[in-house]
Amino acid sequence: MADRQTEQTPEQQVEATRKAFEQEFERFARFTSDSNVKLLLNEAIAEERALSDLRTRLLGKKSDLAAAKKQIGRVAPDVRAAFGQLVQSVQADMLAAFDRAEENLKQQIEEARTARESIDVTLPGRRPPYGHRHPITILRERIEDIFVALGYVIEDGREIETDFYNFTALNIPENHPARGEADTFYTRDGFALRSQTSTVQIHAMQRRGVPIRMIAPGRVFRRDTPDPTHNPMFYQVEGLCVDRGITMAHLKGTVTEFLRRMFGPDTVTRFRPSYFPFTEPSAEFDFSCFKCKGAGCRICKNSGWIELGGSGMVHPNVLRMVGVDPQVYSGFAFGLGIDRMCALMYELDDIRLLFENDVRFLEQFE
Ligand code: FA5
Repeated sequence: MADRQTEQTPEQQVEATRKAFEQEFERFARFTSDSNVKLLLNEAIAEERALSDLRTRLLGKKSDLAAAKKQIGRVAPDVRAAFGQLVQSVQADMLAAFDRAEENLKQQIEEARTARESIDVTLPGRRPPYGHRHPITILRERIEDIFVALGYVIEDGREIETDFYNFTALNIPENHPARGEADTFYTRDGFALRSQTSTVQIHAMQRRGVPIRMIAPGRVFRRDTPDPTHNPMFYQVEGLCVDRGITMAHLKGTVTEFLRRMFGPDTVTRFRPSYFPFTEPSAEFDFSCFKCKGAGCRICKNSGWIELGGSGMVHPNVLRMVGVDPQVYSGFAFGLGIDRMCALMYELDDIRLLFENDVRFLEQFE
């Protein structure tokens, strides 16, 4: 190129540029005439880009034409004016052609975009696919509705807890096995993933004081090996009622009313003595099978009863931990597992199905 330039006169260089332009611009010439070439959107965009590249190459700062313009002042004075005019006229022709083609392509792009975005209002609308609430969510919301109607507030707790909230405040002794790593998940810096929603009792009483009536649904974590009735992560609902003069009769009445609203007015409840460090006395509660009404079936394993959760009168030590005087106030608490309840209601053989995220399974509910 450098050799060729040294052999050519400046006029010849400009003529060579004009020839190069004529050859390379030929494919775009159709956009400068009035012929109505119509391109698809992506074709028009590609052509516009190619045109812009060619413009840079032939008219840009590093083009032969730019070099020729710099020569104007250096050619012999007698031919300078003619040479200058030649450069100007070649440049003007090129610019005009580029501008016309570019305008045509821009207009085509604009039209194609508008056509693509326009809506045919006569076509039927496209229905978005509906999602489903997860069966655990369906059940949680039913439980919440029942307790809200009974005058309870809904509390939200933390899933990661300190030793104090997970154990100490719940009257769980230092050497209790639940504190061990075999039962509870710990973070590296010593926090526990809460092993029951009972932790929310403490937060709620600290925050709201007493009297209080609250439920707290949420996720809990235990180092249980997964099987058809166990998961290391599952859902519980905690209930707490503290006021003056609260007795075991209030506990039984509340749980029975809840289960009747949940499973029908004939539902019978049964309390069996049990032990929890944070309640005294403590009881586990069962209800008559909603399927066979107590006669015995596959769901209740022929016993007529379904076990639901634990309960009891709030231990005086727990009340003291949050600064409530057990001589003045008393209360009851209960906790139940949502996953197992869900499995019973929907007759699932295995609670692990609830967390496999298989859409074919999940979309059967609602
Ligand atoms: C408790 O967790 C007590 N906090 C309940 C309580 C609250 C008692 C307030 C007294 C006062 P328990 O460990 O039994 O109790 O668990 C309660 C329910 O959680 C069980 O009935 C069961 O439905 C469910 N559950 C327990 N472990 C699992 C598991 N690994 N997978 C699924 N559900 C489970």
